[in-house]
Amino acid sequence: MIPVVANFPTARPRRLRRTAALRELVAETRLSVNDLVAPLFVREDISAPLPITSLPGVLQHTVASLVNEVGELADLGVRAVILFGVPSQKDAVGSGAYDPEGIVQVALRTLRAEFGDRVVLMSDLCVDEYTDHGHCGVLDANGEVDNDLTLEIYAKTAVAQADAGSRVVAPSGMMDGQVGAIRAALDASGHIDVSILAYSAKYASGLYGPFRDAVDVQIADGGDRKGYQQDWRNAREALTEVEADIAQGADMVMVKPALSYLDVIVAVRAMTNLPVAAYHVSGEYAMIKAAAANGWIDHDVVALEQLTAIKRAGADVILTYFTRWFAERSAATKRGGAS
Ligand code: PBG
Repeated sequence: MIPVVANFPTARPRRLRRTAALRELVAETRLSVNDLVAPLFVREDISAPLPITSLPGVLQHTVASLVNEVGELADLGVRAVILFGVPSQKDAVGSGAYDPEGIVQVALRTLRAEFGDRVVLMSDLCVDEYTDHGHCGVLDANGEVDNDLTLEIYAKTAVAQADAGSRVVAPSGMMDGQVGAIRAALDASGHIDVSILAYSAKYASGLYGPFRDAVDVQIADGGDRKGYQQDWRNAREALTEVEADIAQGADMVMVKPALSYLDVIVAVRAMTNLPVAAYHVSGEYAMIKAAAANGWIDHDVVALEQLTAIKRAGADVILTYFTRWFAERSAATKRGGAS
C-alpha cells in the first residue's frame, strides 16, 4: 500500500488541537479579568439607575448604584473602572467637567472613600458630555473647535478629577498637545503620581452611536468629529499621534475602536514598550448583543473571540462593556472547572 502522506517530516499542527487539554497547553493568548477595564456611566439627578436601550445590560448609574457596581466588580477580580458623567445641565464650555461638584468628581470622591486603591479609578477626560453643542472642545467664532482654548479646559478638568481621587485620567478629545497640557497641570498641582491613559489613535468612527445614547450627546447641526478624530483611511498617522503623546508624557496609549483597527494595534505595539490599551467600543458591543438576540450568532463565543483577538493583536489593557460578563464567566469557570 502506498501511504497517502509521504514518509517525510510534514507539519502536523492538528496533533496539538486534538483535545481541550492540549489546546489549553499551547494557547498563545490568554484573556484574563486582569486585562479588562469596565466603562461605567454615572448620571446626575436620577434616583434609580436607568437602562440604556442600545447598550443592553449597561446602566446609567446613580452614585449609590455605582458604588454597588464597583464593589461587585472588585469582588469579581476586576482591577479598573473608567467613569463617564452624564450631567443634568450643559453649557457652551462644558463647565460640569471641571466643577468640583460635577457628577464625575462627586462619584470619584465617593468611590475613593469607599474603595481606596482596591480598584484603579480612571476617568474619561473630555467635555462632550458637558457641552450644549456636543463637541469635545469649546467653539470659536466660526463654530469650529478651538484647540488651544480647549486645552485650558482639559487642564482644569484633569486637576479637578485628580483632586477628587482619579488615579488615571484619560483624555479622549483628540486635541493636539492635550497630553502635555494635562501633564503640566497635574504636576503643577502636586498630582505627579496620577497617570495619563491617552486616547492617542482615536478614529472618527460610526461605532460610537450607542455611547452617545448612554451620555445623552447629540452633536449640534448634524455635525461630526472628523475635524479632530482620525480619518479611518489612515494608519501611519496613528503612529504620529502615538509618538506625540509619548513625547508629551503619556503613561499608556490607546487605540479606539478596536476590531476595525487591529492593524493599528499591531503597529502601536511594535513601536512602544508602554502598555497599549484598546477600546472595544459601544457599537462593537451592541452589534454582538443585537445579532445574538436574533439568534444569528452565539453571544459568548463571539464576545470571547473578539476580546481575544484584541489581546492577540497586542493590547495589554482592554476597555469593554463585556467586563462584568467576562468576570462572572471566569468566576463560574473557576468554580466549575471546565472552560
Ligand atoms: C468622548 C468619548 C467617546 C467615547 C469615549 N469617549 C465618544 C465620542 O468620541 O464621540 C466612545 C466610547 C464608546 O463608543 O463606547 N468623551
